[in-house]
Amino acid sequence: MNNREPNPNVVAAILIGFAVLFMAILPVRIDIVPTSVEAQETPSQTEPVSANQPEAQVVEYTLRTVLGQTPPMAFIGVGGDIDGQINPPLSANVGDTVRITVINGDPVLHNLTIDEFAVSTGDLLQQEQTATIEFTANRLGEFVYYCATPGHREVGMWGTLTITGEASGEVAYAAAPAETAPVPTVAPALADAVSVVRNPADLPVPVGDRGPMDVRVDLTAIEVNGILADGTTYRYFTFDGQIPGPMIRVRVGDTVDLHVHNDTSSQLQHSIDLHAVTGPGGGAVFTQTNPGQETAFTFQALIPGVYVYHCATPSVAHHIASGMFGLIVVEPPGGLPPVDREFYVMQSEIYTAEPFGTKGHLTFDHAAMLDERPQYYVFNGAANALASDENALRANVGETVRIFFGVGGPNAISSFHVIGEIFDRVYNYGSLTTAPMTGVQTTLVPPGGATMVEFGLEVPGRYILVDHALARLERGLAGYLYVEGEENPAIFHGEGAADTSGH
Ligand code: CU
Ligand code: CU
Repeated sequence: MNNREPNPNVVAAILIGFAVLFMAILPVRIDIVPTSVEAQETPSQTEPVSANQPEAQVVEYTLRTVLGQTPPMAFIGVGGDIDGQINPPLSANVGDTVRITVINGDPVLHNLTIDEFAVSTGDLLQQEQTATIEFTANRLGEFVYYCATPGHREVGMWGTLTITGEASGEVAYAAAPAETAPVPTVAPALADAVSVVRNPADLPVPVGDRGPMDVRVDLTAIEVNGILADGTTYRYFTFDGQIPGPMIRVRVGDTVDLHVHNDTSSQLQHSIDLHAVTGPGGGAVFTQTNPGQETAFTFQALIPGVYVYHCATPSVAHHIASGMFGLIVVEPPGGLPPVDREFYVMQSEIYTAEPFGTKGHLTFDHAAMLDERPQYYVFNGAANALASDENALRANVGETVRIFFGVGGPNAISSFHVIGEIFDRVYNYGSLTTAPMTGVQTTLVPPGGATMVEFGLEVPGRYILVDHALARLERGLAGYLYVEGEENPAIFHGEGAADTSGH
């Protein structure tokens, strides 16, 4: 109660420790930064520079990328007046040459971009990789320098460059570099792209009737070029290479030892937030994982339910839209009631810069995501993936099926429906501690939410899983459930009926 004052010796030791660590992290100190160098003969200046006007100089800055401080992603000044400052304000006089060197301080993809001057370092991926941009400060004003990796500017990776002065009119208000008209080009589809679709029958067996125990779960974040549609590829982020990530299945009371690995081939950090976790960030605070690294934490599963998990690394919405989500099912004591077949389906949206149906290797459009205007809606990661022979759902007349259905999103609510069926039971919102609703046609599932539906099969044929916001059917959102067995004319019969086998 009374001895909460920090021990000053301990504090000093920690501070010294940090100082030593900081010095060790810093690269070889760059001597004159920022520095002013006489401009190499001011080119054909029509008016003499007035006495009170500074001569054009070369202004140099060095910035290093830094993670895990405040803000979580930033640039930090190296050398000179800006040394150690987070996102330091940079300045120059109009007419100066500005030279900015960026050192990548971590093995995560970054760059430094200034739109108004049409300059960018290009992608820096390796740790200690360095690039320099140089341009003439030919406009007055305050400009933003930032990292253009999706989400990085949004979490704080930006600062300002202020250009002041009153140089000769021809320089001061020179037009911005001419905007080159964007030429719409689509890269060819990648020949080595792989399927990222998880088969909906690929899920763990029920936990059954057992007591609580310790469970270890390992997940690996893998960035992969995948097949989005016929002739169309896309850069996905996944857990274990497939979408959704592996279903995690535990019992209430289990203690889960969860390990997140980030593949060495990754360009970004990844992490996990499980909605079944009670604790800050759902695990995200412990699992921000650099490429090639591993993190871990433990949690106890306190409440039964069907829960979403997802990557929680900024831009979180971008990582989710890229495929980083899955379900964790926490079963009640005694387990779930037995059914004949279980399936695992998740819905999400994909925001490409190119219109739906474009062939080639499509690119992510951050602005479209912020505007919530996806081009594709998908079950299990790819357009019409579950309508293919390979990944359709299959069952027999007389069986009972259960679908664990979740929405990764990141933005769109699903009005989940199976055409030609009625859900006998809907465990609304994925709650397993509330009695299910019965006799439901369509059920709402929010992003970051799930449901568990069950129904018996009485009539053979092809049933279609949809989001009943049916425009999305034409944007790739359909899955087939093939049911085989004896016709049942007492329940379903028509003259000259079409072939209901679905083939
Ligand atoms: Cu960045
Ligand atoms: Cu991620």
